[in-house]
Amino acid sequence: MRILAIESSCDETSCAVIEDGTKIISNVVASSTSMHEKYGGIVPEVAARAQLESILPVISEALKHLMSSSINNYQLSIINSIDALAVTVGPGLIGSLLVGVETAKTIAYVTGKPIIPVNHVLAHMYGNFLQPTNSLLPTTYSLPAINFPAISLVVSGGHTELFLMKSIKDLQWLGGTLDDAAGEAFDKTARLLGFGSRGGLAIQESAQKLSTINSQLSIKLPRPLMYDKTLNFSFSGLKTAILREVNKLKEKNLFNNETIQELAYEVQETITDVLVFKTLNAAKIYNAKSILLSGGVAANLRLRDKFKLSILNSKLSISFSVPPPSLCTDNAAYIGSYAYFRGTPEDWHTITALPDLMVEIK
Ligand code: KG4
Ligand code: ZN
Repeated sequence: MRILAIESSCDETSCAVIEDGTKIISNVVASSTSMHEKYGGIVPEVAARAQLESILPVISEALKHLMSSSINNYQLSIINSIDALAVTVGPGLIGSLLVGVETAKTIAYVTGKPIIPVNHVLAHMYGNFLQPTNSLLPTTYSLPAINFPAISLVVSGGHTELFLMKSIKDLQWLGGTLDDAAGEAFDKTARLLGFGSRGGLAIQESAQKLSTINSQLSIKLPRPLMYDKTLNFSFSGLKTAILREVNKLKEKNLFNNETIQELAYEVQETITDVLVFKTLNAAKIYNAKSILLSGGVAANLRLRDKFKLSILNSKLSISFSVPPPSLCTDNAAYIGSYAYFRGTPEDWHTITALPDLMVEIK
């Protein structure tokens, strides 16, 4: 089954063609991130306008892989080669969501194809079931060997959520952030450290430069809710703690490259320590056989390494899965995978953008 998937929940515009939930035939992503740089954060109006400009070129590019010399008409290639459409309906920015949702509905209307509404946050975890390829040749694709029950951690710009996955379809929400998401904590502290809107990636790059041997400062931040009994998270205190440290350093004229790297290092250690510790706890509670990581923050190299190392040290027999970094940040490939494994087609008349769509499925 081939699905044409569309994602436009925030500042990425993406379209993918996915076969049987696992095989990526194409996955095209356009981003307006750099356009928000001068404002120090994503401006919804700017993001929505960029979505409008990118959506048709991105869809056309994704479809090019399906076109043959005999059929070079977009509408015909959807009619002949696509079985269903999938689109992110929420959560996200209303202006951005509307662009993808209304475009997908229009395609459903003119081609008569079924359309599957997708929850963006739940879909992130299905990045773990994708197998990238650019080939249209028939190949045997098997699902990656993920054993259930699995614990799935989704860490993105707006969400930090833990789920129990009893099977590829059966999800149960276990806990989430009480305030800021992990990505939000990366983004807010990145701004305080002078990295503008480059967010978690800037923190990661700065922390990598730190020479821990010469480091003098040894700032230690608290690990919020790490040892409490729930599977909830709290990251909002981090930005206040960093602001305090930045102000102290500025007063002493010590706010320089070296101390910025130290702060970036400690922010990254704090966030990754909490995420890994609580996820492993959940895995122990639910006797999980695998841990799945996903969402934009899952691109963080320190987080990926820490998970692998902690699972190894725990001596638990748990496998670990995380998509390649390019499939962690927003893209339509996992939207198509989710739609295949867990989605249900709906009449296009009833599909609508839902900016506050919930993720707490019981
Ligand atoms: O999933 P995503 O692309 O968009 C949302 O659905 O929110 O996640 C974006 C988040 C941002 O907060 C960004 O700073 C963070 O993912 N991120 C990272 C890294 N790459 C992206 N955080 C830490 N380290 C990274 N390498
Ligand atoms: Zn996302």
